[in-house]
Amino acid sequence: MGTTANLSKSEQLIEKEDQYGAHNYHPLPVVLEKGEGVFVWDVEGKKYYDFLSAYSAVNQGHCHPRIINALKVQAEKLTLTSRAFYNDKLGDFEEFVCKLFGFDKALIMNSGVEAVETAMKLCRKWAYQVKGIAQDQAKIVFANGNFHGRTISVISASDDESARRNFGPFVDGIAHVPYNDVESFEKLLIADKNIAGFIVEPIQGEAGVVVPDSDYLSRIKALCKTYNVLFIADEIQTGIARTGSMLASYDITAEDKTNQPDILILGKAISGGVLPVSAVLASDEIMLTIKPGEHGSTYGGNPLACAVAKEALQVVIDENLAENALKLGEIFRTGLEDIAKRVGIINLVRGKGLLNAIVIDSSEESDLAWNICLKFKENGLLAKPTHGNKIRLAPPLVITEAQIKESLTIIEKSLLDFA
Ligand SMILES: Cc1ncc(COP(=O)(O)O)c(C=O)c1O
Repeated sequence: MGTTANLSKSEQLIEKEDQYGAHNYHPLPVVLEKGEGVFVWDVEGKKYYDFLSAYSAVNQGHCHPRIINALKVQAEKLTLTSRAFYNDKLGDFEEFVCKLFGFDKALIMNSGVEAVETAMKLCRKWAYQVKGIAQDQAKIVFANGNFHGRTISVISASDDESARRNFGPFVDGIAHVPYNDVESFEKLLIADKNIAGFIVEPIQGEAGVVVPDSDYLSRIKALCKTYNVLFIADEIQTGIARTGSMLASYDITAEDKTNQPDILILGKAISGGVLPVSAVLASDEIMLTIKPGEHGSTYGGNPLACAVAKEALQVVIDENLAENALKLGEIFRTGLEDIAKRVGIINLVRGKGLLNAIVIDSSEESDLAWNICLKFKENGLLAKPTHGNKIRLAPPLVITEAQIKESLTIIEKSLLDFA
């Protein structure tokens, strides 16, 4: 790069982040300044389809007017009280999410990983106080290839070396089973009476959109019930209509609640990409094991977050975003499979609803997927590789059929350059 004077606005801003910011991400070289619906614009005014949706946090589309209006109205009234006092929005929001998802109680936090930590703490409390596991012996099971966030206890449950390297020592009380393998889980339950819960993603998002067998979760839930173990669904990425239904783990409208998890973890799109909001939902039996003073967060359940998240969920319902994700997801995957036949650089197309990925015909170490994403960017579409050779394709759920078709044209045109 030349002197600052010769640099484009984007290059200058990238250089500034590089100089003053921690290097904990490797972003695509694009600097965004505006978003509306399925589109974002960079500082040079170039427009892009957003096919990452902030890792599925912007399901309702960028700067949805109703969510922004809820933000503005509440921001002018009251933003934060802490939980030292009551506020007039928290109870309302808790009632809304409990009724919507079919649980007794909700615990509102901020980031996704905090909600996962909360679920882990709830699971342990329940193990000692209800299940009767001996003190400090409780174990929580995680699937290989999982991603649940970046804190020490959550990376203790990761088997991804790049997430763990030089961050030890790790937290005890964690067991692993292969993903989508019911028999291994049952073997573990038989062998170890100290298992308290299983935290699992209904589809592994960060692993590259790994979709398990359609009966995987119901079989896991049945085993959890038999062995008195909590089934905990991390729907932070799969939830809020992303995979073609409000949740990926169970049907919120069904009378029969057999497949419903004991603890449900939500984040990301629960607030439409406007504020960090997460939620943990559970029965009274589980939630009331935590007593005043034992868990919380200064910002958790703040009135601004509650007002925004309630509106964000209402938008998903009113705009039938689950139905749209289901319908357009099918059209999109068919389009991708056709491209794979014509271009040949795609090994696999997988996904559900509008959470999809293509697996590129290269090793995980190759930079081919990265270069394809650079080409997508040049052609007006933003996506990011995950685990080397997989490119996740997850646009906001407000996308139209015409826009999906235009995006497929951009994807094919870009891939042809590498065929
Ligand atoms: C399934 C899942 N759980 C947890 C998280 C962590 O959420 P956050 O980044 O908000 O902490 C993510 C983020 O990608 C996720 O996909």
